[in-house]
Amino acid sequence: MTDPSPPMAWWRSAAIYQIYVRSFADSDGDGVGDLPGIRSRLPYLRDLGVDAVWITPFYPSPMADGGYDVADYRGVEPLFGTLSDAEALVREAHDLDLRVIIDIVPNHSSDQHPWFQAALAAGPGSRERERYVFRAGRGPDGAEPPTDWLSVFGGSAWQRVPDGDWYLHLFAPEQPDFDWENPEVVEDFHTTLRFWLDRGADGFRIDVANSLMKDQSSPDLATIDPTLLQHGEGPHHPFWDRDEVHEVYQGWRRVIDGYAGERAFVAEAWVHSTERLARYVRPDELHTAFNFAFLAAPWEPDALRAVIDESITTTAAVGAPTTWVLSNHDVTRHATRYGRLDTTVGGVSDAGRAGPDTPIDLDLGLGRARAAVLLTLGLPGSAYLYQGEELGLPEVVDLPEEVLADPIWERSLHTYRGRDGCRVPVPWAKDGPSLGFGDGPAWLPQPVSWSDLSVEAQTGIEGSTLELYRLALRLRRETLHGGSMRWDVAPAGTLAFRRDAAGGGEILVVVNLGAEPFALPAYRDMPAEVLVASGPLADGHLPTDTAVWLRVS
Ligand code: GLC
Ligand code: MG
Repeated sequence: MTDPSPPMAWWRSAAIYQIYVRSFADSDGDGVGDLPGIRSRLPYLRDLGVDAVWITPFYPSPMADGGYDVADYRGVEPLFGTLSDAEALVREAHDLDLRVIIDIVPNHSSDQHPWFQAALAAGPGSRERERYVFRAGRGPDGAEPPTDWLSVFGGSAWQRVPDGDWYLHLFAPEQPDFDWENPEVVEDFHTTLRFWLDRGADGFRIDVANSLMKDQSSPDLATIDPTLLQHGEGPHHPFWDRDEVHEVYQGWRRVIDGYAGERAFVAEAWVHSTERLARYVRPDELHTAFNFAFLAAPWEPDALRAVIDESITTTAAVGAPTTWVLSNHDVTRHATRYGRLDTTVGGVSDAGRAGPDTPIDLDLGLGRARAAVLLTLGLPGSAYLYQGEELGLPEVVDLPEEVLADPIWERSLHTYRGRDGCRVPVPWAKDGPSLGFGDGPAWLPQPVSWSDLSVEAQTGIEGSTLELYRLALRLRRETLHGGSMRWDVAPAGTLAFRRDAAGGGEILVVVNLGAEPFALPAYRDMPAEVLVASGPLADGHLPTDTAVWLRVS
């Protein structure tokens, strides 16, 4: 008899842990995290209870942007280890039932990539230059950039080379953009996908998935009718979220579908409409995409409920699961963001989004972050956790200027500190030169207070953030069932929804975002067993900024 309810594909409900390689674990004491370091910590991740890891780029790179400037897509950066380390990592992860998603960076390469070096050497008009976006300049002697396009990291998006041509870099000048109209580029990325799929990769996280295609007529942004743009992007924008990009991913889908074992893509696409995002996860394209609307939502019940509904509805319309994410290596850690007294102000990142911030209360932020993880892990879909959030790490806001390594710091002429504050290495132990990260000092110094937040300090301590994550992840695996949720009636300021429980019954997830504590059983007359709570319950009351999972029968 065939099973009437085959298990859902893993990527529809996985909890996926993001490893930022440079800052996770350093095996050789050089102060930089590496692949052997990750291998040594895989058992920790297994015990934490995640289903998969996503590892940020570990390819040969001059590190102009922390490895997002790739010089060889099919190799391993010596600072991080060897190709056999990468192969062993995948094998050992699989032995522990952990899937491995790796990062692919298709918008741009490093300026040290052999193709770019060949393009520089071959000169204007050469075939070698056609793999990138080279243009003549404007004005007398072509000394003005070809368009008014700006780099995400600050300044013009064009860089001039000695022979007078200009090339496009939407990010740092060390990251020249590929020309995706060139079939050679398309073919080469298929080869890269196959290279890593052949080595057991379970999927790819696609860097800036919404930027590959450029309007070949290179119009100035100032000439585009703003009413044609949706949130400043979309099919009429010269490079953000153009419709042609979807053909690239249809091709990628055909490649990955040739492999057994439910391999999957996740798109990093900062598009500002959930409908536009859903286009990336249509059945013949990518499997999933990060839900940045959820990440960017303020800690407010109506806003959260709206973004949850909208995310689920738009992805369900194309048959894709929703994803949930609160932090990553590009944004201010959410324990700090949620510590703002007013979470509707201040951007998700200090990088490029300056402006007056409200005062930050870190205790408040941590309490909310703990409630937020019960919300996130309680929702149907896949959930991404960023290394260190299970320890309740805050953003490090006072790194000394001389250690700042994010290209944004230089490119913004020292006006934006950039993203290093969320990239400070993980504290594993209470003591040591880098709190167990490695045998020497770390590339970014950790605050002294992180000794008490270390894995060692929190392990086995009831109520610690680490044990909260462990419990929630275990319960998620053991008790939550199916891919749907139903809102429940709840007092104002409170979010409550039901999930099917494995083996029957229901799990009720309740988050109190209101000003008053409320009596848990008071609004539903049913027996309920508390499975996990993000903070102490007082006499059966759920305090403000606290969440709970209840089993109801
Ligand atoms: C993505 C990465 C970010 C990087 C940028 C350019 O947004 O997450 O870290 O700087 O792409 O590759
Ligand atoms: Mg190292």
